[in-house]
Amino acid sequence: MAGSTPRIAVLGGDGIGPDVAAAAERVLRSVRPDCTFTHHHFGGAGLRHHGNPDPEATREACDVSDAILFGAVGGPEFDWRPAEERPETALLALRKRHELFANLRPVRMIPGLEHVSTLRADVVCGVDVAIVRELTGGAYFGPKTSTTDGRERVATDTIVYRESEIERIASFAFELARTRRKHVMSVDKQNVLSTSRLWRDVVNAVASRYADVGLDHMLVDTAAMQLVRDPRRFDVLLTENMFGDILSDEAAMLTGSIGNLPSASVGTRSTAFGVFGLYEPIAGTAPDIAGLGVANPVGAILSAALLARHSLNDAAAAERIEAAVDRAIAGGARTRDIAGGGPSLSTDAFTEAVITTLERPVEQVS
Ligand code: IPM
Ligand code: MG
Repeated sequence: MAGSTPRIAVLGGDGIGPDVAAAAERVLRSVRPDCTFTHHHFGGAGLRHHGNPDPEATREACDVSDAILFGAVGGPEFDWRPAEERPETALLALRKRHELFANLRPVRMIPGLEHVSTLRADVVCGVDVAIVRELTGGAYFGPKTSTTDGRERVATDTIVYRESEIERIASFAFELARTRRKHVMSVDKQNVLSTSRLWRDVVNAVASRYADVGLDHMLVDTAAMQLVRDPRRFDVLLTENMFGDILSDEAAMLTGSIGNLPSASVGTRSTAFGVFGLYEPIAGTAPDIAGLGVANPVGAILSAALLARHSLNDAAAAERIEAAVDRAIAGGARTRDIAGGGPSLSTDAFTEAVITTLERPVEQVS
C-alpha cells in the first residue's frame, strides 16, 4: 500500500529467542525508525499462553506483516509432546504456509574472531560461504509413518522432491552467485538417493542458463569434510533441506560460534517493500544459558540486516548494520561464547555497542 510503513511481526519464541530477537529489533529500529513492530507468542510460548505452538492470533499477525523477525523455538520440556504439539512443528508449518522455500545462511568470518574458532586461524580466515538450503521439501515434509508390524515398532520418513522445487531453489542459488564470486557447489548424495539424482539433473539444466556462473557437484559426506579442510573453496553452497540443516551448523562453527549465524527464508511473494521473508538466527534456544542475559545476538542482528536487504529493499541499511557488527567486534565487544575466556559483555551491552558504532558513518571504517 502506497504511503504505509513496513510492519514487522516479532516472534521471539523460547529460550534465548526473545532476548536475541529484542536485540535485533533494537538495531533495526535504530536504522529504520519508520518500521512498526508487533510481538506475538509462538512455539513453547504459544503453547503456554494459547495452548497451541502456532496460535491463530500469531498466524493472522504474520499474514498481514511484511516480514517476520524470529528468535528460536523448542526446549527439552517439549520433547515428550506429540509431533503436532511440538514447537519445531509450528516453525515448519510457518515456513510452509508462506512458501519460504529459499533459506539463505551466510557464513562469514568476522575479522577479529579467527582465533575463537576451534579450527586454525589460517584455515578459517576470510571464509565467506553462502549456504542456500531448500526449506519446504525433502524428508521434513514427505509422508511419515510410525506403526508396529506386530513384532516391533517401525517408523518411516520419505524424501520427496519435485522437479519444480529443485528448479526454483537452484535458480535462486545461481542468481545469488552472480552477485558474488560466481560459483555454485551443489551438494547431494546421488550415489545412493534417487532424489539426489533428480537434483543433479535439474541443477545441471538450470546451470545451462547461467553461462557466467561455474558449477560443481559434491557428495554430502565429502562436503562435510571439505568444509573443515578448506572452507574458502566454497562460494554458494546449494543443497536440499536436511543436508543444509546439518552442514549449516557445521559451517557456523568455522566462525567461532553458532550464535554468529543469521538466516533469511524467502519465497516469491512480494510486499509493498520487498519480498516477504522470515529472519532468524540459526543457533536455537540454547536452554543452558536461557535467562542469563549472555546470549550472543550477532546472528539475530545480522538477520535484521538480511531483513532490511530482502524485505525492505534497503541495502544501505543492511550494510550499515553489518558494518556496525564488524566495528563493535573490532573494538573488542564480545559475548561470552566468542570471548575466548577473556572479558565479555551481556546481550544488552553488546547490542548497545553495536548501536553506538551504527551512528558512525561507514566511511570511517579504517
Ligand atoms: C534450523 C533448525 C530447525 C530445522 C528446527 C528447529 C526444526 O534446526 O532452522 O536449522 O531443522 O530446520
Ligand atoms: Mg538446524
